[in-house]
Amino acid sequence: MVAAEVPKLASAAEYFFKVGAEGKRFRPTVLLLMASALKFPIGDSTEVLSILANKLRTRQQNIAEITEMIHVASLLHDDVLDDAETRRGVTSLNCIMGNKLSVLAGDFLSRACVALAALGNTEVVSLMATAVEHLVTGETMQISTSREQRRSMEYYLQKTYYKTASLISNSCKAVAILAGHTAEVSMLAYEYGRNLGLAFQLIDDVLDFTGMSASLGKGSLSDIRHVIASIPMF
Ligand code: FPP
Ligand code: MG
Repeated sequence: MVAAEVPKLASAAEYFFKVGAEGKRFRPTVLLLMASALKFPIGDSTEVLSILANKLRTRQQNIAEITEMIHVASLLHDDVLDDAETRRGVTSLNCIMGNKLSVLAGDFLSRACVALAALGNTEVVSLMATAVEHLVTGETMQISTSREQRRSMEYYLQKTYYKTASLISNSCKAVAILAGHTAEVSMLAYEYGRNLGLAFQLIDDVLDFTGMSASLGKGSLSDIRHVIASIPMF
């Protein structure tokens, strides 16, 4: 999906999908586990049902792939905003190819939309588009805070939902919806992703203060350098 016509764009877009720079793959792993938990409600006892179950698994896997592409796109842009030098234990793309190509490579990953549209489910398209909108909203909230907002835990948690939890929660819900689950089950999947996403970012923000660059695979103390108020400051 990340293959591009122009060689420079191709190598930039592929950068964080290559072995050694692929990261923990936390989001796709959570989504594949969610897919296993939310299989076809009808089971897979006959050959026809087993074919349908496999088809569903592939569609749910597509959500995991699309989610990772959106996530990587946001990291490419984030590293430009944060002037990051390392990411996932390797030199950041902005350091290798410059800010302009990093931003364009992130934009190029909107190719994930083609795979999303191919799923042919408007509710799922809407969930994932909302998550992208939230990523941008969260990042904007982070870089444009007033003195009052920097002191507000409520503002911080709302920003954290937009910045990190929305992508995980909405993609978990998408996995449930593709399997034809009820609104109640889909909401439970959403809530699970939301809480996991919030917890993930809270730990990430603590590690920014306490972690060492070598074990994090990215620079530390970035938040304090950029005057970003996060959980350790409250
Ligand atoms: C990492 O945060 C960054 C994010 C979770 C989201 C960044 C979102 C954007 C830049 C908006 C653009 C979005 C798209 C889809 C192109 P962090 O800096 O706290 O974490 P880090 O320590 O991993 O850098
Ligand atoms: Mg960053």
